[in-house]
Amino acid sequence: MRRIRRRIIQPLLRETELRKTDLVMPVFVDESISRPLPIPSMPGQFRHPVDGVAGYCERLYNAGVGAVILFGIPARKDGEATEAYAADGVVQRAVRSIKERLEQMVVITDVCACEYTDHGHCGIIGETADGPDLQNDPSLELMARIAVSHAESGADIVAPSCMLDGMVKAIREALDATGHQDLPIMSYSTKFASALYGPFRDAADSGFSFGDRTTYQINPGNAREAIMESELDAAEGADILMVKPAGIYLDILASVAELGLPVAAYQVSGEYAMIKAAGERGWLDERAVALESLTAIKRAGADLIVTYFAEDAVGWLHEEQ
Ligand code: PBG
Ligand code: ZN
Repeated sequence: MRRIRRRIIQPLLRETELRKTDLVMPVFVDESISRPLPIPSMPGQFRHPVDGVAGYCERLYNAGVGAVILFGIPARKDGEATEAYAADGVVQRAVRSIKERLEQMVVITDVCACEYTDHGHCGIIGETADGPDLQNDPSLELMARIAVSHAESGADIVAPSCMLDGMVKAIREALDATGHQDLPIMSYSTKFASALYGPFRDAADSGFSFGDRTTYQINPGNAREAIMESELDAAEGADILMVKPAGIYLDILASVAELGLPVAAYQVSGEYAMIKAAGERGWLDERAVALESLTAIKRAGADLIVTYFAEDAVGWLHEEQ
């Protein structure tokens, strides 16, 4: 095997090559701030003010990042997440300003309620046999409204992340009924109830005030259920599937990639924080580990990767070429 690993031959035989067009950068937009606010648990990441987000996206674009996924932090939360679908809501304004300034940037929007509800859950809460919890069907209409409002603002792809049963079908029907037949849905179809979302909940102010998300997100040990979730979303009309988190769920990612639809992988906040923290201490080489992790995610079958390393990674890839 070493004959084919001669340095001069290696590039010819490389099976997996990360490209900058594989990467999507998550962007946090906060309605209540006037300058970028550092996120303590995610060194190098910031919340951006609405009127600064287009400029930030332009910087990303010029660096080589061609796609972003937006998360909004509203000034006001309530029980029904009304700000999530407001025509002048934080994400709606951000999408409009980015697309006005930078038409070529692919703008994906996260469709969920947890940043907009005062209880922090991903939809409408009601009484269940086990006490108060996320209500499935009453929350579907909310997701449809949010998705349509993002579409009207100019989003290129909507990405529901609430893990409700029927969310893709409800959103597809609502988009079709409002003239958005051509807008793709990237479903967070296989999303585990992971402790790796911890830093994100600080970043997006989306922590919950009671309970947890284990009645809607998947148990990390359940592989067949995880794949079934993506199959169901495919049947409901999802255009792109997703596995989240990415790096420690590569077995699931490989299986979901076999379903045939394009697949996204989300390298989540905790994956970023772990690599960053070890890098800051000098215990790991941040750049090498980040690129190795992203390459492994791609090798497992991801067509696109949502990663907080996107901006750094395009710079590193550029240097290596
Ligand atoms: C909201 C949402 C979450 C993430 C993306 N969308 C958090 C959650 O489900 O609690 C996590 C992203 C990350 O950790 O980077 N539904
Ligand atoms: Zn949510």
